[in-house]
Order: sequence, then structure tokens, then C-alpha cells
Amino acid sequence: MSAAISTRLRGPARIEINEVAPRDGLQIEPVVVPTDAKVAFLDALSACGFARIEATSFTSAKAIPALADAEAVMHRMARAAGVRYTALVPNLRGLERALSCRPDELNLVMSASETHNRANLRMTRVQSQAQLLAMTEAANAAGVPVNVSLSTVFGCPFEGEVDPDAVMALAESFANAGAAGITLCDTTGMAYPIQVASLCERFQQGLPQAGLTIHLHNTRGMGLANALAAWQTGVTRFDAAAGGLGGCPFAPGASGNVSTEELVHMFAAMGVDTGVDLGRLLDVVAGLPALVQRDTASQLLRAGPRLRTHQPPAWLAEHFGGQH
Ligand code: COA
Ligand code: ZN
Repeated sequence: MSAAISTRLRGPARIEINEVAPRDGLQIEPVVVPTDAKVAFLDALSACGFARIEATSFTSAKAIPALADAEAVMHRMARAAGVRYTALVPNLRGLERALSCRPDELNLVMSASETHNRANLRMTRVQSQAQLLAMTEAANAAGVPVNVSLSTVFGCPFEGEVDPDAVMALAESFANAGAAGITLCDTTGMAYPIQVASLCERFQQGLPQAGLTIHLHNTRGMGLANALAAWQTGVTRFDAAAGGLGGCPFAPGASGNVSTEELVHMFAAMGVDTGVDLGRLLDVVAGLPALVQRDTASQLLRAGPRLRTHQPPAWLAEHFGGQH
């Protein structure tokens, strides 16, 4: 598909998508999806062309009961060539568990705001940061690269605005400690496009080697607008969840990630290569209501890709007598 050339709307010709529905999506669903169904879901996603898939999280079963089967999932899923399988890890105990499952990389997590860090991880930011720095070293020593996801960087559901200086200081500490990537997360969809662009610009200028990913939620309907803003600053890595599933159970008002199919569809329309096969992905999305036992209401699945056309009403030919 070729896109019209615009002098204003420009960004990288190729982006990578990290599919996070198996982790961010399933962690907040009220049903516990059986391990077999999770493995089938992951295997179907593996055939879609993602650069990365976040398969699960190694969290406490008390905190996230829906992902208590992390080891079984990691051992049983099939690994497709060219896909990097990652998992979210909040602490040293989780790192130990995760390393026993041969991940391609790991996604360590803490919040940029103090109150969300305490609510989500039951630690202060200082405690989380110290633990994550030690985990970065341990994972690197074991030959597993780490990405660090910083939650609530565009706003905290408890504290409101979050200081970009604090975000940059945290990011810098992890980049200096050997993290291969940093993800800026909009945990409850508080980000808006100019804010996203300005933090992404600052990040890429200040930490050009830090491997920036952007993680957006569509809680206030700004997900795609924020993705577009990030792309215009040169961001090439995006987290997204099939069907727009997702949300942090410890962030009041949290709801779904930016939907992968909508993100892929938008970028494909503009001629940006995402590597993802939209048709295959839509087949997976069509199976989500059965997986999570509720209507997942994917807009794109309902409407179809933008060039899906329909038969005109039957009366048209009769009324216009075959005239054009
Ligand atoms: N995996 C499995 N069990 C774990 C664990 C892990 N990563 N970390 C701790 N535990 C267990 C401990 O072994 C202990 O078990 P016991 O009661 O049988 O002795 C129990 O959990 C309490 O351990 P503690 O270190 O006191 O943890 P906590 O209760 O303070 O919880 C976290 C801290 C980080 C483990 C927990 O808050 C958590 O998993 N949060 C993740 C939240 C999340 O994923 N949010 C969405 C993504 S951003
Ligand atoms: Zn998220």
C-alpha cells in the first residue's frame, strides 16, 4: 500500500511492535484463562509477525492470580523464529523464576510516581530502583538483556502530573546500568500528543542509545494520536495489545492498551512497515471473546480494514436504471 507524501506528517519507514496482550491484557481480566488456551493464544500471535511478544509476568500469585502459571506458559509455548519472547518481572524472586524459563529478554518494571509504585509493587521507588539495578546486572551476567518499563510517566492516577526530570533520571540510571531498552508507559491513558512528543524528543536527545519503546493505553481515546506523535519524533518501538485488552489492576480507572490491530492498520495505511500480517492478527482478535469470556468490541474487526467495500443496496440499480 502506498501512502501520499506529506511534508508535515513524517516518521520512520519501519516500526517494531511488542504484543503485550498475553501479559498486560490477561493480567486484568476477571477470568483466569486456562494455560492451554494461553499457549494457543501465544502460538497464534507468534504467526502474526511481531518483533516481540510479552508472554506473561513473574509476579506474586496474590497480586496477579491470572498469570500464576507463568513457568508453564513459557515452557509450553512454541517459539517462532524471529520473535523475541519477553516477560515482565517486578523483583529478584521474579527474576529467578523467569531466568529458569529461557526468556530472550526480560521486562523489569517500576513506576515514575511514588504512590503508584507503592500500590502496584508494595515497595518505595528507592527500593524498586535498587532491586531493578541489581536485577539488570544479574540478568546481563546470565546473558539475558533487560528492558525497563517505567509506569505512570505521563501522569499518575493518584498524584496527577509526573515530573519529566524524575522520569529522565530513572531512565538514565538504568541505561547506565546496562539496560538494553527503556519503555515509557502511559499506564492510565493520561498522556496527550504534545506531551508524548516532548518527552520522546527529550529522551532521544538525552539518551540516544537507550532503546526507547512507547507503551500507550487508550483509556481516554488518545492512544492512536499519542502513537502518531511518538512516531513523528522518530520512535520505532511500540507496545500494543490485540483487541485493546489490558490495564494495571493497581491503577484506579485503568483500561485497555492501544489496540494492536488499530495501530497496525493506521501505520499500514501510511505505508509504514510494521512486519505484522493484519489479516492473521484480525483472526486472532476474532477469537478474543471466547478467550476472555466477554465482548472485546474491537472497532476495526467490526468495520474491517478501510478498503473493505460493501455491495450497494439492491434498489440502487433499479432506481438509477444502470446509469453512472
Ligand atoms: N513471584 C512469585 N511469588 C513471589 C514473587 C514473585 N515474583 N515475589 C514475592 N513472592 C511471594 C513471596 O515468596 C512471598 O510468599 P510467601 O507468602 O509464601 O512467603 C509473598 O509473595 C510475599 O512476598 P513479598 O516479597 O513480601 O512481596 P509483596 O507481597 O510485598 O509483593 C510484589 C511484592 C512485587 C511481588 C507484588 O506486589 C507483585 O507481584 N506486583 C506485581 C504487580 C503487577 O504485575 N502489576 C501490573 C503490571 S505493571
Ligand atoms: Zn500497560
